[in-house]
Amino acid sequence: MRAAPTCAPLSPLRPSWRCSLRVRARTRPRPSPHPRLRPSRPSGATSIHVPEKLESIETGQLDQNGKPQRIACVTCHTLRTPEKLPESPGELVRFHQGLVFKHGTLRCASCHVVGRQDSLRLADGSMIPNRDAMLLCGQCHGPQLRDYQHGAHGGMNGYWDLGKGSRVRNHCVDCHDPHVPRFLPTNPVLRPADRLLPPPIEKPALPPFPKLGEAHP
Ligand code: HEC
Ligand code: HEC
Ligand code: HEC
Ligand code: HEC
Repeated sequence: MRAAPTCAPLSPLRPSWRCSLRVRARTRPRPSPHPRLRPSRPSGATSIHVPEKLESIETGQLDQNGKPQRIACVTCHTLRTPEKLPESPGELVRFHQGLVFKHGTLRCASCHVVGRQDSLRLADGSMIPNRDAMLLCGQCHGPQLRDYQHGAHGGMNGYWDLGKGSRVRNHCVDCHDPHVPRFLPTNPVLRPADRLLPPPIEKPALPPFPKLGEAHP
């Protein structure tokens, strides 16, 4: 856009500062009514939740604070030197009875290491600590791991905008039992908030609103 005639430069080489100011004021773009949302500079971190069940099991007992007591795998397994892994859950008779296994045609040895229950094994034979089980899942479920890595599978808690705070991603085994990984249908604990359904909790009726000039109750 050209400037108004009052703003014509005094000389072609040295435009007057007043003129250039006015030109700038007129040509500055108007602020958009729909400002673009941009994440602020990231200060928060992204971490992956480590489910307790990877390193310990429930005892069914409560500690002195009333919290469920857990016992680490290594507590028992450093003392055990079995010769081989079981082939089916039915072979577990002294402990861990009732384990259900339905995960394709995998064998226990596809993931477990004989005599080392703090570790799992990858297909190339290398060992990883239980907490890194996602590497194990990812080696056979590449597409889901890829989706997970760009945020389309697995969900998260915390902040989308890492400038506002940190984010915690779920672990594969937060949602999938490694022994029966298929996602089974469940009943929701809270009903969906549907405007056509009656409200789930009846609200107590409010007292009548005082009329103008009436004393407060
Ligand atoms: C209270 C002790 C105890 C704890 C804690 C425990 N286990 Fe075991 N586990 C056993 C015993 C005993 C057996 C053998 C059961 C049998 O052969 O009948 C066993 C068997 C197993 C086996 C079959 C291979 C083997 O070594 O015989 C696996 C795999 C296993 N446990 C994994 C785990 C993992 C993973 C954890 C932790 C998440 C864990 N266990 C926690 C006692 C324990
Ligand atoms: C896909 C990998 C994978 C396979 C295959 C697998 N496990 Fe596991 N197992 C895990 C992981 C991961 C854990 C620790 C997390 C958990 O307990 O959910 C675990 C934990 C266990 C535990 C201890 C805790 C519990 O869940 O009771 C036992 C016992 C066990 N496995 C036995 C077996 C047996 C027996 C087989 C073969 C029939 C088997 N697993 C096959 C991955 C696997
Ligand atoms: C060694 C390869 C291997 C590993 C390791 C493995 N899986 Fe699997 N997984 C399979 C196979 C094979 C199937 C069966 C596919 C089928 O039935 O179509 C399967 C099935 C599944 C399914 C159900 C798929 C469906 O269509 O319903 C889920 C979910 C799953 N695995 C999650 C996991 C998780 C979580 C882990 C890590 C703890 C894991 N897998 C580790 C090979 C593997
Ligand atoms: C927040 C919970 C959650 C987490 C974490 C999660 N998944 Fe899933 N996953 C699901 C649900 C729900 C489904 C079932 C989708 C359906 O049935 O349509 C599913 C489906 C699957 C399937 C079956 C095939 C498919 O895409 O439907 C595989 C395999 C799988 N997940 C692997 C993984 C792996 C590997 C990880 C970790 C990298 C993981 N999941 C993390 C919730 C989760």
